[in-house]
Amino acid sequence: MRIYQAKDYNEMSRKAANIISAQVIMKPDAVLGLATGSSPLGTYRQLIDWYRKGDLDFSEVHTVNLDEYKGLSPSNPQSYYYFMQENLLGHINVKPENTNIPNGLETDEALECSRYNDIIKKLGGIDIQLLGIGNNAHIGFNEPGDAFEKGTHCVRLTENTIQANSRFFSSMDEVPRYAYSMGIQNIMEARYILLIASGAAKAQALYNALFGPITPAVPASILQLHPNVFVVADTDALSLIKEKGLL
Ligand code: GLP
Repeated sequence: MRIYQAKDYNEMSRKAANIISAQVIMKPDAVLGLATGSSPLGTYRQLIDWYRKGDLDFSEVHTVNLDEYKGLSPSNPQSYYYFMQENLLGHINVKPENTNIPNGLETDEALECSRYNDIIKKLGGIDIQLLGIGNNAHIGFNEPGDAFEKGTHCVRLTENTIQANSRFFSSMDEVPRYAYSMGIQNIMEARYILLIASGAAKAQALYNALFGPITPAVPASILQLHPNVFVVADTDALSLIKEKGLL
């Protein structure tokens, strides 16, 4: 695992975008695993900028997103489908048919989960998976639990996550309680993992994930077992790790 320090959110975003760009340049038909949330927004803005300047070409790239709220349609502004169109996919030359995200409207959970696992498999796996980290160290929507979930699954979101995500909705009642998410195995099978974190609110989660015991109670802690993880985090997110003299 390599930890790259950034002074703030902007620097974190540029470094993360550089790593993703390197992947796309080295392998123009790369499979990019993408994430939502506020953490990757700056990274996506930077990628769009470089695309517009002619430095990046996504025409052969495939994308697979980590997760989607169950019950939200793609046209719902809070859906992750909508988020991805608005913040990245709608602004670059990736082919719409090469982009994938769980179908929040599919009510047959088993069907949707196996469909999504098959997509990842048929693409030959993920080259680089971008991850944010939840306050409770969830990745994708793999919430703390008693076991690591393997493949794509339907999750009941924790109160902590519902609370954290309520900032995007007009009321708590509107926040979906369930989501489809890639599992830990889907994530761990990615050839490279790029974990980004910004802000003091992530300091504890990041410390637990990178230096604490590997346990399903801290889903991101499993990343310690992955051979190729890049962590790009800003000073605030790294504060606890530094305080403990680990960096
Ligand atoms: C959501 C997403 C995660 C994301 C997390 C943190 O729960 N499913 O993929 O990492 O939020 O979000 P943020 O980056 O906004 O802090």
